[in-house]
Amino acid sequence: MEAHLAMRLAVRQPASAPVAIPYLGALRDRDLLSAGDLSAGELEALLEAAAVLKDEWAFRHDHVGRPLAGKTVALLFQKPSLRTRVSFELAVEQLGGQSLYLADADVGIERRESAADIARTLERWVDALVARTFRHGLVEDLAEAMSVPVVNALTDREHPCQALADLFTLRERFGSLRGLVVAFVGEANNVAMSLALAGSRLGMQVRIAHPPAYGPDPELMALVRSSAMRHGGLVTTMQDPQAAVEGAQAVYADTWVSMGDEADAPIRRRAFAGYQVDTDLMAAAAPDAIFLHCLPAHRGEEVSADVIDGPQSAVFDQAENRLHVQKALLMGLLGPR
Ligand code: CP
Ligand code: NVA
Repeated sequence: MEAHLAMRLAVRQPASAPVAIPYLGALRDRDLLSAGDLSAGELEALLEAAAVLKDEWAFRHDHVGRPLAGKTVALLFQKPSLRTRVSFELAVEQLGGQSLYLADADVGIERRESAADIARTLERWVDALVARTFRHGLVEDLAEAMSVPVVNALTDREHPCQALADLFTLRERFGSLRGLVVAFVGEANNVAMSLALAGSRLGMQVRIAHPPAYGPDPELMALVRSSAMRHGGLVTTMQDPQAAVEGAQAVYADTWVSMGDEADAPIRRRAFAGYQVDTDLMAAAAPDAIFLHCLPAHRGEEVSADVIDGPQSAVFDQAENRLHVQKALLMGLLGPR
């Protein structure tokens, strides 16, 4: 029997039965700034723990207790958010801790105060920081100045928590990730690169189809390629969406205009015009292929309404799964060793 199935059955036992959450203690006190910060073994343990936590939550069991009791997690966001904010706030609360949302409009990072002074102040009060920033270098600066864990909640370069939920959703649908083909259609952006880094580390093949001027950052791509090679995965980039989607088990779309790129919106809409995921493109994928999107979505732009609202769409599972993977992550960073 697959290990994760055995785990799922285990948590359906009577309320007194213990649950076996994989060992996550190696994550204690670490930062998660990039999907590449997690080894293949750590990724697998997190996904396994998230599966247990999802069952716990679904059956309203109380085997996990309050591993974050007495802990406070601050959320410092420079950009808007629905999924990341709500799922982190609920994750902290469900594990017995307390969260504190700080909007940049109040804090004024690098305007009212330097990142280093904010970090050195916050670390006197809180046990971890979840930060969403425009510039990736800013989460690195915060992490550098803080002794408590810092989690990247999306920057212009990466979105590692999204990648965890994406892999978890794929694992739920297909069981194993090794050899799975995912086609990402659109800009080789933060979401694409974190997925490529983490997915290829678990043996997935990630194909990114992007318009000519919207490919990956070469330095990050070199890192992704060498990591993929070491782990038996594969990350390729191309310009033809049809070629990327051919036989894929999952087709992924994201907005054509990421937060911070609004000034280029008209140019981007023209450049991405041939990159909509519609039913014709989905028809080139495997018959059991699913459609993924990190959300928020723009129907009629990166995806047609019949695909995102159709039977192949797994986008709300993906959104829900943010909660479960982030609970596993927080248990690793802040829970018992
Ligand atoms: N997918 C995602 O990160 O959504 P939010 O921007 O709403 O947090
Ligand atoms: N690429 C998008 C993802 C939103 C969750 C952005 O950065 O705005």
